[in-house]
Amino acid sequence: MQVLLSTSFTDQKPGTSGLRKSSKQFEETHYLESFIEAIFRTLPGVEGGVLVLGGDGRYGNRRAIDLILRMGAAHGLSKVITTVDGILSTPAASHLIRINQAIGGIILSASHNSGGPDGDFGVKVNGANGGPAPEAVTDAIYSCTLNLDKYKIIENSSISLKNPGQHYIGDMSVEVIDGVSDYLSLMQKLFDFDRISEYIRNDFPIAFDALNAVTGPYAIDLFEKLLGAPIGTVRNGVPLEDFGGCHPDPNLTYAKELADLLLQGNSHCFGAACDGDGDRNMILGKGCFVNPSDSLAVIAANANCAPAYADGLLGVARSMPTSAAVDVVAQDLGIPCFETPTGWKFFGNLLDAGQITLCGEESFGTGSNHIREKDGLWAVLFWLQILAQKQLSVAEIMSQHWSYYGRHYYSRHDYEAISNDIASQLYNRVELMLPSLVDKSFAGSFITCADNFSYHDPVDGSLTSAQGLRILLDDGSRVMLRLSGTGTKGATLRVYLERYVSQNGNLNQNPQQALSELISAIDSMAEISKRTGMSTPTVIT
Ligand code: G1P
Ligand code: ZN
Repeated sequence: MQVLLSTSFTDQKPGTSGLRKSSKQFEETHYLESFIEAIFRTLPGVEGGVLVLGGDGRYGNRRAIDLILRMGAAHGLSKVITTVDGILSTPAASHLIRINQAIGGIILSASHNSGGPDGDFGVKVNGANGGPAPEAVTDAIYSCTLNLDKYKIIENSSISLKNPGQHYIGDMSVEVIDGVSDYLSLMQKLFDFDRISEYIRNDFPIAFDALNAVTGPYAIDLFEKLLGAPIGTVRNGVPLEDFGGCHPDPNLTYAKELADLLLQGNSHCFGAACDGDGDRNMILGKGCFVNPSDSLAVIAANANCAPAYADGLLGVARSMPTSAAVDVVAQDLGIPCFETPTGWKFFGNLLDAGQITLCGEESFGTGSNHIREKDGLWAVLFWLQILAQKQLSVAEIMSQHWSYYGRHYYSRHDYEAISNDIASQLYNRVELMLPSLVDKSFAGSFITCADNFSYHDPVDGSLTSAQGLRILLDDGSRVMLRLSGTGTKGATLRVYLERYVSQNGNLNQNPQQALSELISAIDSMAEISKRTGMSTPTVIT
């Protein structure tokens, strides 16, 4: 059956690896259908190919799975691998794509954005390497949406996802599998589970908050069943369509209950949380928050604690706004360190080419060459492995790390839901100022470089420009400005602040205090509070 579109579809931004919009927008007539049609017309190998399909369980997950199955059959896929209840984390999807030689995957999630009828929904497209589809593919999907006038779909009643099993829609087979076990087998190959288990069962109470999102079923099997942590270790472990009203973003603001438990309480030695689709992580120790940039550096410095990484690292990579803490570790290890634009897809080429083993972003994303997405539970396991090996508390690990490498004080200030006009005027004004800033004084230092970051991919030679404004100072400090590409309400301005203090300096300051001069200097230069009318950021990390 072919249906004519009643509306033209022109809403996808080029350069993003999927579509993220309000649930209401996705419920508009033919909206989701149009995007799926563009994917099936564009993704290489659809005819006769295998596709992985699932999502984080948010409102709209099940409807989208049914629709994609019917459209996939109409487009001639030979098989779709989906999961019980349609529950599939982003890292587990990446792994399934890779082990099944699939042409790619469709992951239904708006990541850390809130869910439900009044929240957001999203469709992410991954390629055959298991990572976010490269820009060439997403640009082609976008172009395709501009000229759609019909889509292909077949009639079929909804198949049951209650249990594993095999079904058919037309000639296409639908394999419903348990979405958790393959992922956990991979984790068992990477880490020493016996050692971690012994450690956490022996007076080392941990708490994991799944924030009512996708990692609940994975975490219950992982921590409580396989590693033997007590029942109740996993909090908010049942995925809910609206995440129980909470915002599934593992940071100090949105995972406050867990943060209070670790930072103010005395009952737990370790705490962690993951986001809606399971690719982000937050690590906490007793009285200690681990900044994600530091987490990447600590994992790199102690990678040999985990069996799969014991032979050393090929190289590491971080996104531009992520602090340079990992750079210092790489230098010490004598391995390359790459600086990429924001977004996981830029790591994919480096991982595929065998140039890096570990990578990460300041936005609570850490990962390795085991898959092609960031991986929340993997990072939590890595930390537990390091703690089990070193027999130190999280706070002790951090202070030893800083006294060896020095400390990169770091913070990100987010100004959310500001008007698009105000945000772009503010940003464009600073961009125009950049050439005149070099050699000027700023927060007591001098500006050595001010530019809009661009990236030459060392693997395919491509150039990606306009990736964020950077102000670099002669004492190694940096301030960066970006406009978010993932927000759905107005614009989000991100201000990234970083200051390096060497081994002999004061390593125990409050980060906001250590960065206070940079914070006020960028506020007066960019006129942030004046133009946004916000005296403080919405989220401080
Ligand atoms: C945000 C993060 C970025 C991450 C992306 C997807 O993007 O800042 O590091 O890759 O989500 O998880 P942004 O909203 O800043 O464009
Ligand atoms: Zn996510």
